[in-house]
Amino acid sequence: MTVRSPLDDVRAHYEALPYPPRDPRDEAIRLITGTPSHLLEVNHYLFSGRLNFMRPFRALVAGGGTGDACIMIAQQMVDRRCPGEVVYLDLSMSSRQICEARAKARGLRNIQFLTGSLLDLPAMAIGQFDYIDCTGVLHHLPDPTAGLAALASVLEPDGGLGVMLYGDYGRSGVYPMQEMLRTLAPPSMALDDRLAMAKRLIRFLPTTNLFRRNPYLNDHVTGGDAGLYDLLLHSCDRAFTVPEIGAMAAACGLRVVAFLEPVRYEPATYMSDPIIARQTSSLPLLERAAFAECLAGNLRSHVFYATRAGFDTVARPGLAPRIIAQIDGRKTVAEIYTSLGAQGSLPQWEDFYAQFEDLYVKLNGVNHLLLRFRT
Ligand SMILES: C[S@@+](CC[C@H](N)C(=O)[O-])C[C@H]1O[C@@H](n2cnc3c(N)ncnc32)[C@H](O)[C@@H]1O
Repeated sequence: MTVRSPLDDVRAHYEALPYPPRDPRDEAIRLITGTPSHLLEVNHYLFSGRLNFMRPFRALVAGGGTGDACIMIAQQMVDRRCPGEVVYLDLSMSSRQICEARAKARGLRNIQFLTGSLLDLPAMAIGQFDYIDCTGVLHHLPDPTAGLAALASVLEPDGGLGVMLYGDYGRSGVYPMQEMLRTLAPPSMALDDRLAMAKRLIRFLPTTNLFRRNPYLNDHVTGGDAGLYDLLLHSCDRAFTVPEIGAMAAACGLRVVAFLEPVRYEPATYMSDPIIARQTSSLPLLERAAFAECLAGNLRSHVFYATRAGFDTVARPGLAPRIIAQIDGRKTVAEIYTSLGAQGSLPQWEDFYAQFEDLYVKLNGVNHLLLRFRT
């Protein structure tokens, strides 16, 4: 007797309902672009804008589905005459066929198609990658950390990843629905009957139900049956908070360098009180982002870029937290510089001032830093 694994259920799901639904004929009228993995974004967040598109670039799209990221990256490489290739990998053969048809419609020849599990990457001998896209996939693995570790094992030392994972708070209401549907429409039922039962349950939800009260969930409306199944009938599905993402990345030797869009992960975006905004703006990236997701409450998914933990790719205003701690409404900019100097090593005035200016533009942009001359 063969035992059915959670991976078998996920494969069967995406064989029956490739996600998201795409029609290869639409390639004639539009290119779907987006976050993560747009090459301009990859260059900005992971390579400090220094990517040389004349040099061969290797990208892996792990769990490529019907091909949005794969087609976007491959097309953008062709448009820039960038040599190299995109490797597409997915469990589902029917999803791969849709992506292959989309690539054919565009005449793209820089994609290598593979069918299999990303968990097997360490043993696949397909080389290392400058960039890895993995969106909407790891949260469907029984052990997402093992999945991320498998991706990290094929990442170049200076490469980076773009990942999308479900967000816990923004999906409030989803998991009680999944639980009810495991009772009403178990996997032993026919697919169409399960979908019909899910639609029935949605129609008759009481007004107090969390899913009904969450206005940010719409995959079941906009995504057709595939969207409905993905949202409410998935066999393996979990969501993450920002601290959980940080911990998982760290466990794989990775570091999150940005969440997108960055402004959605800044507490000041949602907070008009200057005291709270100031206190939170001096926190490190992960803590600010964790605070922002608690505050906003509507982040349904988290898109982030990550690199190897010890590798610093992004030119950030490193002095920002220390400068903010010194802003007290009384000190001049020069006095802030002197105070920082008294605390330890400090760059030249010009460098400090450039970082101060950068910080000023950002904080003033959300009305949280105002200058005055001291008389
Ligand atoms: C929700 S779809 C997302 C597809 C695509 N990444 C996107 O964002 O449009 C999830 C995809 O991950 C694939 N998948 C799930 N587990 C996988 C695994 N262990 N290895 C490779 N692919 C996997 C599924 O077959 C499915 O096509």
